[in-house]
Amino acid sequence: MQWASLAAVALLAQNAAGQAMLRFACSQLVVDRVDPIVNPGQIYTPHLHQIVGGNSFNISMLEDPAAHDLPAKSTCTSCSFREDLSNYWTAVMFFKARNGTYKRVPQTGNGGPQGRLLNKGGLDIYYMKSGRVTSFKPGFRMIAGNAANKVDSSVSKSNICHRCWTSTSDSPFVGGAPCSGSDTVGIPYDKKCKMIRQTIIFPHCWDGKNLDSPDHQSHVAYGQGGGATGGGACPSTHPVKLPQIMYELMWDISKFVADSSIWPTDGSNPFVYSMNLGGSAAHGDYVFGWKGDTLQKAMDNNCNLDNSCPSAGITKQSNSVYDACTVGQQAPEPVDGWLSSLPLGSLAVRGE
Ligand SMILES: *[C@@H]1O[C@H](CO)[C@@H](O)[C@H](O)[C@H]1NC(C)=O
Ligand SMILES: *[C@@H]1O[C@H](CO)[C@@H](O)[C@H](O)[C@H]1NC(C)=O
Repeated sequence: MQWASLAAVALLAQNAAGQAMLRFACSQLVVDRVDPIVNPGQIYTPHLHQIVGGNSFNISMLEDPAAHDLPAKSTCTSCSFREDLSNYWTAVMFFKARNGTYKRVPQTGNGGPQGRLLNKGGLDIYYMKSGRVTSFKPGFRMIAGNAANKVDSSVSKSNICHRCWTSTSDSPFVGGAPCSGSDTVGIPYDKKCKMIRQTIIFPHCWDGKNLDSPDHQSHVAYGQGGGATGGGACPSTHPVKLPQIMYELMWDISKFVADSSIWPTDGSNPFVYSMNLGGSAAHGDYVFGWKGDTLQKAMDNNCNLDNSCPSAGITKQSNSVYDACTVGQQAPEPVDGWLSSLPLGSLAVRGE
């Protein structure tokens, strides 16, 4: 059996137990130095993020989460389903050229066994389940990963990982289930890689009480096992099984690996996230914002992939519609082109 079909079987097997999953594209709403979970109200946060989802996203939206009704305040979403006004964000990746300048790594939609998703930047979102799950509540938010972590071994590679893609096409599909096999915590930089797929799998067990916690993590926990299984059994401290959220990002590094005049000569890894750290610091942020009980119904009714699903009242939008949903960047600094330094630290200190 070929890898492609093995992978398809592995991925479909998790759904074969009657478990459908949502899998859909989100284009970039904005690339900006803002983070309403970790730094509410602060402009500008220490590192750059790409944000996708509802356009009511703003730096103070979580100062009083009860007052910020995401589905009511957003007039559009950069994600596929019209009823999903949630916000999702991650760091962005840069290539550091031999001469010390940086360029943001372009992103592309993901293919894989279930077909190609169309994104303008951004990421692909999965909501998976194993057995019955309870939807997030309005105001719920969480973080997966640690933006300051420098130690690969302190990351569970079955939850946060990278994969070397040796073709700029995702067909045939490379490798097996997400965060398995030869996937790594660090960012691969072998010149045979043409794309890097980043996967962030969130905890799926909730304490049932807190919409957030001081570290934005301890109100949730990973369950038994790891990986994109829909979620194993939950511990007694966090007994409520949530949908398992997974982010998938495709970083297209083909132009960088093809140009030996810019590739570092000292053997260093030229790829860093916007914290100026490697894969050990990969992280994702999530704020729930589905309309009414649409997510619960989508899970209960086995709505699948990015298809419209009338039984849950969720509607697939065309990519031109969700691509057009954007918000303005606030930090007055370039994030594209060759940059003499990463957009980090205080803008005031940098004379702006
Ligand atoms: C940001 O969201 C908060 C909370 O909903 C709201 O009070 C504020 O007006 C918003 N700010 C902007 C600039 O839209
Ligand atoms: C560094 O290299 C990039 C890519 O070749 C080039 O565009 C840029 O002008 C160079 N910058 C400096 C300061 O040499």
